[in-house]
Amino acid sequence: MSTAEPTPAPTLPATILQTERLTLRAFTEAEVDSVYEAVRDPGIQRWLPLPGPGEPYTRADAEQWCLTTAPEARVSGDGQQWAAIDRGTDRFVGSFGLTRTMWPAMRTEVGYWVAPWMRGQGFAPEAVTAVSRWAIDQGFQRVELKAAAANTASRRVAEKTGFRFEGVERNAMPLHEGRTGLAVYSLIPDDLG
Ligand SMILES: CC(C)(COP(=O)(O)OP(=O)(O)OC[C@H]1O[C@@H](n2cnc3c(N)ncnc32)[C@H](O)[C@@H]1OP(=O)(O)O)[C@@H](O)C(=O)NCCC(=O)NCCS
Repeated sequence: MSTAEPTPAPTLPATILQTERLTLRAFTEAEVDSVYEAVRDPGIQRWLPLPGPGEPYTRADAEQWCLTTAPEARVSGDGQQWAAIDRGTDRFVGSFGLTRTMWPAMRTEVGYWVAPWMRGQGFAPEAVTAVSRWAIDQGFQRVELKAAAANTASRRVAEKTGFRFEGVERNAMPLHEGRTGLAVYSLIPDDLG
């Protein structure tokens, strides 16, 4: 019988990222009310089926995200989730993260949403730039970004942050209303020269 310990799943280092206008740090209890308010926004509910397709988003879901799901994403090796905070005002801006990390292939995926009251100020491109460059610095060879094909605002974020469009995964994701194809973008170390 082998007495060897199982090899622990690889994890990302717990990291705080700073950009010109934002601090990206772990979610805490302090974000629960903002997350609850933001995620119920029709603009988020249209493109992200939270908490699950056809299910209403509750305050308990926001609490679960901030206190359990987001922190555990790093520990499980899935990736890392950050709350973006406006450095000037301390206001909550949105959620940014790396997920579906495939360690053997060194691939990961960036995901995000911005609170409706913070949109249109370039916060998503600023945070996505920081998160994706940080992932490449960690040695990842491919960062993916996937957006519902008709989600123009999110596709603009991909274009503005140097991701390259590869094609559409057809009929790939359930939304609250029906299914959508996913526009697939990627960033690889060569793109950064
Ligand atoms: C997609 C999203 C994260 C963009 O965040 P943002 O910080 O507003 O990003 P930007 O300021 O760079 O704006 C991106 C695009 O949003 C649109 N936009 C601009 N102002 C806007 C506003 N006040 N409200 C909504 N959309 C706006 C424009 O198309 C803009 O592109 P442009 O710069 O070429 O004009 C945000 O709209 C969002 O959270 N949407 C809902 C959730 C979602 O789709 N998440 C991504 C899933 S893949």
